[in-house]
Amino acid sequence: MKPLIIANWKCNPITLEEAKLLFDSIAKGIKNIKRVEVVICPPFVYLVTSNKRQVTSIKLGAQDLFWEEKGAYTGEISPKQLSDLGCEYVILGHSERRKYQGETDEMINKKIKSAAKEKLKIILCIDKISQLKNDLKGASEEELKNLILAYEPLFAIGTGKPCGIEKAKKMRLLIGKNSAKNTPVLYGGSVNSQNANDYIKKADFQGLLVGGASLNPSEFIKIVKSIDHD
Ligand code: PGA
Repeated sequence: MKPLIIANWKCNPITLEEAKLLFDSIAKGIKNIKRVEVVICPPFVYLVTSNKRQVTSIKLGAQDLFWEEKGAYTGEISPKQLSDLGCEYVILGHSERRKYQGETDEMINKKIKSAAKEKLKIILCIDKISQLKNDLKGASEEELKNLILAYEPLFAIGTGKPCGIEKAKKMRLLIGKNSAKNTPVLYGGSVNSQNANDYIKKADFQGLLVGGASLNPSEFIKIVKSIDHD
C-alpha cells in the first residue's frame, strides 16, 4: 500500500471560490506524485465541485455520514449519496464530532457498518484503545476489510504540539496488537512538513491525517513531497 495522506479540511474554507482555489492549487502541486495516495475530505457542500474537477491523482473523502440509506433524517447524508458523488473514503469518529456533536461509540459503530456495506474506505479516528474496541464491536471480517485507523491524540489536534515520535511509536505498536493484521494506521495531530516523514519512517505509520496544514497549499504540497520517495 502506498502511504496515504488525508487532507481533512474540517469546516473550511468559507466560500466555494476559495474551496476551488485550494483544491486546484493542491492538485497542481502534486500532479507528478506517484508514491503517495492523496485524499481530500472537503465539507459536504464542496464534494460535487471537487468531484467535477476530475483530478485522477486525488481521491475524495467525506468527513462523516449517517447510517441509514435514505429517508426522513433531516440534515443527514447517507453512504450511498456519498459514493454517488465519487467519494471513496469517509472519516468516522473524529474527536471533534465526539466532542461537539456528542457522537458515541454506539453511533460510530452503526456508521462503520453502514459505510462498510457501501464499500467506502473508513478512516476511523481514535485516541485510545477502548474506542477501537467499542467502535468496532460486532463488525465482521468482511466489514473491516476496508478499515484504516488513525491515531489522533487529543492534545495534538489543532494545537501545534505534535505527539513525540517515541510515544507515537508505542501507540502504533499497541494499536497493531489490538487490530486485525495489516490494518493500516495513520497518525494525525499537528502534522507539518518538518515532522511528516518521521511518523512514517521512524514510527511505522502508513500515512497521515492532516488538518490545519491541509488548508495551506504550499505546506500541504511539501508534506506530500516529503513522503513521495523510495
Ligand atoms: P490538525 O488536525 O492537523 O490541525 O492538528 C488533525 C485532525 O484533526 O485530523
